[in-house]
Amino acid sequence: MSGAFDSRLRMLARQFATHGEPVDWSPLGSGHINDTFVVTYADSGGSSKLVHQRINTDVFGDPVAVMDNIARVLDHLAAKRRADDPIAAGMTSLELVPAIDGRNFVVLDGDEYWRTYAHIDGAETIDTAATASQARGAAAAYGRFQRMLADLPGPRLHESIPGFHDTERRYADLCAAIDEDRAGRAAACRAEIALAGSRSQLATAIERSALPERITHNDTKLNNVMLDVATGEAVCVIDLDTVMPGTVLYDFGDMVRSAAITTAEDEPDADAVRIDLDIFEALAHGYLGVTADWLTEAEIAGLGLSCEVITYEIGIRFLSDYLGGDRYFKTAYPEHNRVRARAQFALLEDMQRSRDRMTAILDRALGQAPDPGRQRLAR
Ligand SMILES: Nc1ncnc2c1ncn2[C@@H]1O[C@H](COP(=O)(O)OP(=O)(O)O)[C@@H](O)[C@H]1O
Ligand SMILES: [Mg+2]
Repeated sequence: MSGAFDSRLRMLARQFATHGEPVDWSPLGSGHINDTFVVTYADSGGSSKLVHQRINTDVFGDPVAVMDNIARVLDHLAAKRRADDPIAAGMTSLELVPAIDGRNFVVLDGDEYWRTYAHIDGAETIDTAATASQARGAAAAYGRFQRMLADLPGPRLHESIPGFHDTERRYADLCAAIDEDRAGRAAACRAEIALAGSRSQLATAIERSALPERITHNDTKLNNVMLDVATGEAVCVIDLDTVMPGTVLYDFGDMVRSAAITTAEDEPDADAVRIDLDIFEALAHGYLGVTADWLTEAEIAGLGLSCEVITYEIGIRFLSDYLGGDRYFKTAYPEHNRVRARAQFALLEDMQRSRDRMTAILDRALGQAPDPGRQRLAR
């Protein structure tokens, strides 16, 4: 896409309400979903940067619904900041640049959906936490994000990916992939299939009916929070395509799964894969520090379990994709999805071995959070 971007850029510059002419551009960030470009626009009054982003319509089948969600969410966050809501203090939010026809996206060549944001200057994203304080700040940013959206006026947001965190369905998909054995790989995956089967109670472990429906981010990786380059403070939650109704537990669990791991997600040596309890502690403190007096008892009680459930869910998705012939996740080598599945399962087993310590850490984080009267964690 980058090579073809020059011709796109002329159309984008014409169709979005930009100031000046594009004078420079480069691909941006380490995201794997959307094509993202930063463009410098200049006129006699000076220059400014915009971010043009093409929505991945393979992943998001209804980009108009996605943009409707994002626009409503961003309006609400901006209103919170204007009202000096203390939860918003020190944070900014993405700002959409409208198209000249008044919509918040443009369509090129009939099927390319593009949106534009103001560039957030002086901030960066990181893929792994170099310090506990980065993890703590990012977790707090997600907590504040969820909390600020709790009173978003209706109607209900669109489900940008229907059934995204339906773990039970993901397990049913795995069973079907094993039966079908489309790529002829099941016989060689006995250990992984056995592990998935032995933990299948996790597929139904989260009792949705006991949990309030919230507006959640659903892609709570560290690199979806921008950090101030000078201070390291978390300043903005980005990558809002998957914002939709859900439970806070998946956001917390996925944050832990993706950030509190001692290796890469595709570490081939599964024995090296562990939960990083220092990063876990930082995430727990960051998150509960801003949400403890807002979450329900059931939500708080489910936080530890949520880490296991989401790790299991992602593990069985990698395994299903491996068995089905790698049709969903992009792979760099033939065994890639199996390696990923094994690493998730190793992480899950280590979380289960570390259950008591994780509970104690959550308990401590809760005890230090602003509402000391709250009940202790119950598992
Ligand atoms: N408004 C912005 N200002 C500055 N950088 C941005 C902005 N939006 C995105 N980025 C950068 O581009 C990267 C990819 O964007 P993101 O929305 O996360 O897409 P993806 O879904 O592909 O991960 C981010 O990690 C961030 O570094
Ligand atoms: Mg991203």
